[in-house]
Amino acid sequence: MDTTLTPNGGILTPLIRKNCQILRNYLEAGGYAAARKALAMTPEAIINEVTKSNLRGLGGAGFPTGRKWSFIPKNSPKPKYLVINADESEPGTFKDRYLITRATHALLEGIIIAARAIDAHTAYIYIRGEYVEPARILQAAIDEAYQNGILGRKVLGTDYELNVYVHRGAGAYICGEETALLESLEGKKGWPRMKPPFPAIEGLFRCPTIVNNVETISYVPAILANGGEWFAKLGSERNGGYRFYSVSGHVNRPGVYELPHGTTLREILYTHAGGIRNGKKLKAVIPGGSSSPVLRPEEIDVKMDVDSLAAIGSMIGSAGVIAIDEDTCLLEVLRVTARFYHHESCGQCTPCREGTGWLEKVLARMRRGEGNPQDPDRLLSIATGIMGNTICPLGDAAAMPVFGFVKKFREEFEAHARYGRCHTGAFTSWQPPARPGA
Ligand SMILES: Cc1cc2nc3c(=O)[nH]c(=O)nc-3n(C[C@H](O)[C@H](O)[C@H](O)COP(=O)(O)O)c2cc1C
Ligand code: SF4
Repeated sequence: MDTTLTPNGGILTPLIRKNCQILRNYLEAGGYAAARKALAMTPEAIINEVTKSNLRGLGGAGFPTGRKWSFIPKNSPKPKYLVINADESEPGTFKDRYLITRATHALLEGIIIAARAIDAHTAYIYIRGEYVEPARILQAAIDEAYQNGILGRKVLGTDYELNVYVHRGAGAYICGEETALLESLEGKKGWPRMKPPFPAIEGLFRCPTIVNNVETISYVPAILANGGEWFAKLGSERNGGYRFYSVSGHVNRPGVYELPHGTTLREILYTHAGGIRNGKKLKAVIPGGSSSPVLRPEEIDVKMDVDSLAAIGSMIGSAGVIAIDEDTCLLEVLRVTARFYHHESCGQCTPCREGTGWLEKVLARMRRGEGNPQDPDRLLSIATGIMGNTICPLGDAAAMPVFGFVKKFREEFEAHARYGRCHTGAFTSWQPPARPGA
């Protein structure tokens, strides 16, 4: 099923439409001209252009990309590495796989430019294990690039050498966290590292490393081709350009939409995704993947960019928009979310390992109709115990939805705690299936 429903326009959408996983199509669309341009520029000039573009990491944290690249030490005798994060495991997020499968050469061109900017001669693409077909398409495009002198000993006929390897993960959410990803890439258990040192100083094999998301790097060729200022003007203040919003849940047209930063959540839901299905009312929206705090319907005029969502206590994260209709029990939404984070916790930190388990247990008990009036505050107290007390942000990712749901929809959690059910009439007898090993 093709669920790519991007409207006309966009930067990468035209390439997706032209099937730019095939080299010939990408070259016809002007592909690899930006890499040629970059190879004739100094690394500083490339970084400067990307900094001017206001491109911010599209993997979740929103860190300015040009600034991140500038942290790579210039005089280090160690090799430098570029690592592309294609782990894409945040529930509600499915944009990177479109880019990998249909704009494949834009990603590879972005890799050449980014590698040149940080002086890396080796790049790894870490792709989640479940993405079998995307990994195959990616490898085929890399092979085509090698055969045509685009990668390898003499990139595009220059003296620059760049080798790109696909590394398939085993399907663990935590391996999307950049330091866990590096551990996994080194062949170890995917456990996050303490920071500092940050990867730019000590990353893969203890060498300077940049980790960037697939989408972030896929926009780099357009920035080099058209200039940083062009890209900056397309977005909102301090959030350059376009981005892909994965829209799922109870909308009429779920899919992936490439729209400018700063497009409102209302426009995404009602104009592009066709509104709420079956004429139902919107009850809640998760704006940026399962870890981002939920919004109420009266908050959907917010601009979708890092700063505007932060200003109302949520986050854009991976821009995975999940619409929830009036018939849905929010306690159940939070329970499956907590279950996910409990399952995916690597177990290194007690607050995360134990706290996510308690959250799941309390929510499952409330769902069975065995709650008590202290439970909403108990959930907040457990989340407070996790927040900020862990090695990596997975703990915060588990805590933030609890704050969002319990504070914004307290009446529904209180109804469950007191009466064993909410206005949707959901859940008093059904038991969640036992998880293997739980
Ligand atoms: C638990 C967890 C999972 C993550 N999963 C991903 C992921 O699947 N893809 C991704 O690009 N970033 C993911 N991130 C963010 C990365 O750690 C990192 O910030 C990102 O890859 C940097 O790239 P960017 O600057 O281009 O956004 C995750 C972070 C955490 C804490
Ligand atoms: S916060 Fe959770 S996932 Fe992250 S290191 Fe600690 S235990 Fe592991």
